[in-house]
Amino acid sequence: MAGNRKRWSDRLYIKDLADRVGETHILEGWVQFTRKSGKIRFLGLRDGSGIIQCVMVREEMDDQYFDLFSQLKQETSIRLTGVVQASDRSQFGVEILAKEIEILGISNQFPVTPKEHGVDFLLGNRHLWLRSKKQVAISRVRSTVIQALRDFLFQSHFVQMDSPILTQSVGEDPSGLFAVDYFDLGTVYLAQTGQLYLEASIAAHGRTFCFGPTFRAEKSKTRRHLTEFWMLEAEMAFFDNDDNMDFEEDMIKFVIQRVLEQSEWYLRQLERDTDRLKSCLTPFKRLSYTEAVDIVQKKGSSVQWGDDLGAADETMLTEDSDVPAFVYNYPKAVKAFYMKNNQEDPRTVKCADLIAPEGFGEIIGGSQREDSLELLEKRIKEENLPIENYEWYLDLRRYGTLEHSGFGLGLERLVGWICGIPHIREAIPFPRLMERVTP
Ligand code: 4AD
Ligand code: MG
Repeated sequence: MAGNRKRWSDRLYIKDLADRVGETHILEGWVQFTRKSGKIRFLGLRDGSGIIQCVMVREEMDDQYFDLFSQLKQETSIRLTGVVQASDRSQFGVEILAKEIEILGISNQFPVTPKEHGVDFLLGNRHLWLRSKKQVAISRVRSTVIQALRDFLFQSHFVQMDSPILTQSVGEDPSGLFAVDYFDLGTVYLAQTGQLYLEASIAAHGRTFCFGPTFRAEKSKTRRHLTEFWMLEAEMAFFDNDDNMDFEEDMIKFVIQRVLEQSEWYLRQLERDTDRLKSCLTPFKRLSYTEAVDIVQKKGSSVQWGDDLGAADETMLTEDSDVPAFVYNYPKAVKAFYMKNNQEDPRTVKCADLIAPEGFGEIIGGSQREDSLELLEKRIKEENLPIENYEWYLDLRRYGTLEHSGFGLGLERLVGWICGIPHIREAIPFPRLMERVTP
């Protein structure tokens, strides 16, 4: 069989077999499950493009191949030759009648079996857990979401401008920084955001985005927090806060539509109620922070005007419908220094958080940026930030300042919501949590 080795670009995968009924093909992959029914043997073969049921019948294959069945334990890697047959139960509408099997790598007692395991055990075996059905489905949805986001941005005339990970000036909460010892320059920090650099890049390109790992040394052990997560950030010249919300809403709908089109099989593996996602293709809710406080107070929240909204408040705000909600114009005291002052109510800033429905909480934080040199300098001083680190940022207001807005989207929060998984640690291949950095 090895003599038949095909050039990579000519190889066929499980996903390519749908319209090849009657043809004989060679597949390489891993045994996901085996099952006996009378004289027939079944195995589920996974090759990365999908999973397919292979049927073994003694009369249809040599004994030397049929007798290998007992060695085909979960996650054994094999090369299998067989005939494609129609089947209405499978992912691609076909199954394989096996003819020859070659064992490539044995696997005895694979630790992550389909039975229930504790979370610690699963996280400790994350490198193996990634192969299980639900985890495969989540990774596939994540990949589709990433591609959809990029497609939407590129078709909307964005330029990708990657931002640095090692930074001196901070962006968000200075207490949540990871410090790194940096040669003779002393301490530098892992980036919490690429926003300030994106703001520099829009004066060159108009609309820019960056997408990469982001670090927060937050001591939060919640189902929504990672210490390292992926953030997509976009920045747009000549956008105000309303343009920003319109853009975010269109982008999220584009992503959901794409996932429904391309990853429905995987959402089904996750038992996701896709009708709830389809409801999000209608207009999102928009309410001011002040309206939001009023609503949650009536529902029993103890939040007072001026406080940040907590996770429970965010859940209350979206519990009556399936669409996400924007909450705009928060008090300036609970938001970052760079947000634009709201002249209509100077206690507040022009910003908006997008809250996902079903209790998934904030998935996007965005704002219009302060474009006045004077006001920005004042805010940096008020927050006691080291002004010398922000001189370059202030230059952006000295040379051709402009109305502009942008946002950051937490990829794992979006994927967690779309997949309907309770904890975002499963929405990233190798989660970094306060108490875990292995594997
Ligand atoms: O609201 P945040 O802190 O906003 C910023 O960093 C802005 N500078 C972004 C910008 O305007 N360019 O973070 C943005 C998003 C949040 O809405 C949330 O989805 C996600 O990042 N996020 C986290 N995700 C996982 N774990 C954490 N610890 C997160 N912290 C924020
Ligand atoms: Mg935020």
